[in-house]
Amino acid sequence: MQNFIYHNPTKVVFGKDSISKLSSLLPNAKIMLVYGGGSIKHNGVYQQIIEQLEGHDWCEFSGIEPNPEFETLMKAVSKVKTEGVEFILAVGGGSVIDGAKFVAAATHFEGDPWDILAKGKKIKQAISLACILTLPATGTETNTAAVVTRREYNLKLPFMSEHVRPKFAVLDPQVTYSLPERQLANGVVDAFVHVIEQYLTYPVNASVQDRFAESILSNLIDIGPRVLTSKDYDLRANLMWNATQALSGLIGVGVPQDWSTHTIGHELTALHNLDHAVTLAIILPRVMHYQREHKREKLLQYAERVWGLSRYDEEGAINLVIEKTEQFFRDMGIKTTLSEYNIDANVADEVASRLEKAGATKIGERQNISPEDVKNIVSASL
Ligand code: NZQ
Ligand code: ZN
Repeated sequence: MQNFIYHNPTKVVFGKDSISKLSSLLPNAKIMLVYGGGSIKHNGVYQQIIEQLEGHDWCEFSGIEPNPEFETLMKAVSKVKTEGVEFILAVGGGSVIDGAKFVAAATHFEGDPWDILAKGKKIKQAISLACILTLPATGTETNTAAVVTRREYNLKLPFMSEHVRPKFAVLDPQVTYSLPERQLANGVVDAFVHVIEQYLTYPVNASVQDRFAESILSNLIDIGPRVLTSKDYDLRANLMWNATQALSGLIGVGVPQDWSTHTIGHELTALHNLDHAVTLAIILPRVMHYQREHKREKLLQYAERVWGLSRYDEEGAINLVIEKTEQFFRDMGIKTTLSEYNIDANVADEVASRLEKAGATKIGERQNISPEDVKNIVSASL
């Protein structure tokens, strides 16, 4: 196992009616409620929050779109400054929470905030923020990451900072009842691939991380198809907690990490506006095939422990486990090839050259995936 420091101070307030605890969690400060396109007004979450904000000094900013836009977020930064906001409460899915993280970091940033994303400039301070999660998927509710899109440049870029980790996260599984099937499926697949990116690399004798990762994968395989048609509370609660733990940082400590599927996927979203999880469902099976020799030991472990396949015929087990993984995504209602989204072969060159231009020329846990390899992986996804 590799050396690591583990520290995740986000306070998680989990369970039925947990939004009713919000008032006591909030600081005595000027608060800005930040949300997206209005789903929280239709499912009653907004009303619950307004009641909790009584007696607090607050304002609001809405309209953060899926794959949050830099331009919109900079409008929020202006509002933070003019209203003297001291604390941000983000209510929504990954896009709203990521957007709020960027706003929190950009407000006190000296220089052009775009450099946080484009040049990886370090953040020295940020406004404190917390969140109420409405879509189990990204893990952003307890982690330090955010992804922001700039449409005018066709770019989708991540940043990470301990300063933007939420102070607290309220997780009430009941808020997922209003999610459309598409978003539930996206959430399951995104969480699944987060685990895979941290697990399916090479062995370093990290038994807690491995067994914990395998249990989340097994849980998602079990829960995934069922949540699409059921509003059973325990199913939703387990979906939510599995998705949080998939990217809270715990399973990623002390182990090599891949993230090539995400890196390629973000380009596909920037170019073709595909949902984040859709890009992962398309690319991951191809990365598994392409990297099968480098990932051999872990592929066999995954096949055996998560899917119950025998190692007797190693090549057969690897082929079958890749097939089963792709079939799982399809069972979630997600198409897994580019042509099914009417995307043609030119995309392979485009993605490869964009990553090359961005300096992402050695990706994957062994840094052995070059732009040429990316081209092959995307071509194989057609
Ligand atoms: O905007 P509203 O009206 O709220 O509607 C949203 C949005 O249209 C809707 N929704 C959310 N909760 C709902 C709901 N509709 C009904 N009922 C509810 N309870 O769902 C739509 C999609 O929301 P979005 O936030 O975009 O989805 P998701 O949570 O999948 O977030 C995706 C974003 O997160 C980034 C992705 O790249 C993408 O930009 N990621 C962030 C990560 C992180 N910070 O660690 C890691 C991930 O790998 C990912 O890259
Ligand atoms: Zn993801």
